[in-house]
Amino acid sequence: MNPVVQLRDIHKTYDLGEVTFEALGGVSLDIAEGEMVALMGPSGSGKTTLMQIIGLLDRPSQGQYILRGQDVTELSENERAEVRNRAIGFVFQAFHLLSRMSVLENVEVPMTYAGFSASQQRETALEMLRRVGLADKSRSLPSQLSGGQKQRVAVARALTMQPSILLADEPTGNLDSKTSVEVMALFQQLNDEGTTVIVVTHEPDIAAYTQRIVRIRDGLLESDSPNPQRKRIAGGVA
Ligand SMILES: Nc1ncnc2c1ncn2[C@@H]1O[C@H](COP(=O)(O)OP(=O)(O)OP(=O)(O)O)[C@@H](O)[C@H]1O
Ligand SMILES: [Mg+2]
Repeated sequence: MNPVVQLRDIHKTYDLGEVTFEALGGVSLDIAEGEMVALMGPSGSGKTTLMQIIGLLDRPSQGQYILRGQDVTELSENERAEVRNRAIGFVFQAFHLLSRMSVLENVEVPMTYAGFSASQQRETALEMLRRVGLADKSRSLPSQLSGGQKQRVAVARALTMQPSILLADEPTGNLDSKTSVEVMALFQQLNDEGTTVIVVTHEPDIAAYTQRIVRIRDGLLESDSPNPQRKRIAGGVA
């Protein structure tokens, strides 16, 4: 087992002026390369906070974080951004697509920051759109797509930098159940190809597609169990 994420006694305290609030009270968690994990828990339990720490969008107040063997706990803002761009892809509940840009341009966005040439950007973006089954929509605007298609564009965008970890925070929260299954099929396919996937969800039906279910409550790990009945979606996305 090759751990990609190693969290050791992670605390996160928010300073609210007069008082402080402890959103994470000491979370230790290992995630191995190639795992597909669901992170569950009630609203306010600390799921997004934990994902932001794993994704290097935020830093713990206390504890140690080792990412792919590198201690990233004490990295500067710039160093964290660099590791983040190289290693991590994000997918959010609200898609976060730019409405005035075409699908193709949206997928190109992360690469513009990474110094790819225009032709490399185009080629990679088209390849990623093919992977998510949307090559024929490259010239569309996000507003012309269904919710599931928008989320697949967001996944294509997350994949352009070839992340080893894909973090998805309620990626199906705005989707109907049929479309949610489509997105989970895509995640399973990526996971089969070697990407480590961590997905936050409230829905047991969605967690059922993962191989391990981690629950947090009040900022603490409540349970961590394999999911031997893992549902598989045959065929992936067309
Ligand atoms: N920037 C912040 N400042 C102060 N408190 C915060 C901040 N961000 C989150 N919190 C608090 O930390 C706790 C955990 O929040 P978090 O967003 O991680 O919950 P969550 O499990 O993702 O919930 P949900 O399922 O509703 O998305 C909540 O009580 C929240 O109010
Ligand atoms: Mg949240």
